Amino acid sequence: MQVLKNKHILVGVTGSIAAYRIPDLIRSLQNKGAQVKAIMTKGAQAFITPLTLSALTRNQVYTDIFEFHSEYPIIHLNLTDWADLFVIAPASADIIAKLAQGMADDLLTSAALGCPRPILVCPAMNTRMYLNPAVQRNLNILEKLGFHLMKPATGNLACGVQGQGRLPDIEDITTWIESFFFPKDLKGYKVLVTAGPTQEFLDPVRFISNRSSGKMGFAIAKIAAARGAKTILISGPTSLRPSYGVEFIPVVSCAEMKEAVLSLYEDVDVVIMAAAVADFRPCYVSQKIKKTERLNLELEKTEDILFVLGQRKRHQLLIGFAAETKDLLKEAQRKLQQKNLDLIVANDVIQPGAGFESETNKVSLIYRSGARENWPLMSKEAVAMRLIDRIKRILCRIC
Ligand SMILES: Cc1cc2nc3c(=O)[nH]c(=O)nc-3n(C[C@H](O)[C@H](O)[C@H](O)COP(=O)(O)O)c2cc1C
Repeated sequence: MQVLKNKHILVGVTGSIAAYRIPDLIRSLQNKGAQVKAIMTKGAQAFITPLTLSALTRNQVYTDIFEFHSEYPIIHLNLTDWADLFVIAPASADIIAKLAQGMADDLLTSAALGCPRPILVCPAMNTRMYLNPAVQRNLNILEKLGFHLMKPATGNLACGVQGQGRLPDIEDITTWIESFFFPKDLKGYKVLVTAGPTQEFLDPVRFISNRSSGKMGFAIAKIAAARGAKTILISGPTSLRPSYGVEFIPVVSCAEMKEAVLSLYEDVDVVIMAAAVADFRPCYVSQKIKKTERLNLELEKTEDILFVLGQRKRHQLLIGFAAETKDLLKEAQRKLQQKNLDLIVANDVIQPGAGFESETNKVSLIYRSGARENWPLMSKEAVAMRLIDRIKRILCRIC
């Protein structure tokens, strides 16, 4: 699933110190299948060279409105005709002011003024500059003029200050761009996704958990958000970072996950429980257990969150995951009935390429009606995309 495959992205680079991160953005977009061309202002060339971006884009980098190019005789108009999206990143305070005024005194500003495609502006500058009322006023003007804006991130700035003004993470800019090309067919819906394992502590330093990486649930949350849903992701501990646009609630134990899910349940339209919630928890002791020859752990059953959700279900569409190692479809069918689900996604976690930790998954779907679908081995993002397609179909039938 490559929504950026063969998309044409024109990147406009300006004179911000964050220009040094643009080669990574170009690589990231290319890895997703996009074709990239670049324009650089004179200011940008004080930070990185056109040669770097030419080598990466495998295209000429355009810097001068008065230079003639036979492939683009009227360079400032032809380049934006080529583009599906124009991304100005990093956008300096200077370029933001010029765009707000409609100035066209170089190639980048002239291209923006004549651009028939949407333009994304990613400001990056020192915090004092960013918060300056003149810059804020100019950003407001850009918003009113229909530019898309990504807010800068907060963190360590090149000038040694901590604050807002950093160019957002390249992964976040890439996700924004990918999301832009998705249909917004879940707009107006609220989707709650759970992911990852839970950790059940037996003493202050030890816990029992499982091998879930969280990749499946994080991918579902990313696609739901990209398709316009207000998306909340509740996850146990993983090494993953939630996608741009996803509201994130980290939890540790089954009890915490249950509390978080139930507090939001009334308010959401769709719940997708992709988390591998622990079925058992040890009895907790408050001091570290001392080393002994043998330790017998007593485990008690945790609360079945999916079962509780099924009991309390009213307007919500409830989707569960069944991770099994034996009798997959029989077990999944049983869970679907017992937990009052609308749909269950079953995966045999010991099959090669499926289940925990892997980048791919091979799943079967069982609907309430008894209908089944067996999907081939796919990337987890592709599974997420198809799953959201099916959910959309069910939602359309309900509406
Ligand atoms: C070391 C250094 C770092 C700079 N970093 C930024 C920055 O991060 N953001 C910004 O808006 N301006 C920054 N500037 C100022 C711009 O480079 C300057 O306003 C320039 O005129 C911008 O030109 P352009 O918008 O045509 O690319 C920096 C200048 C220097 C010397």
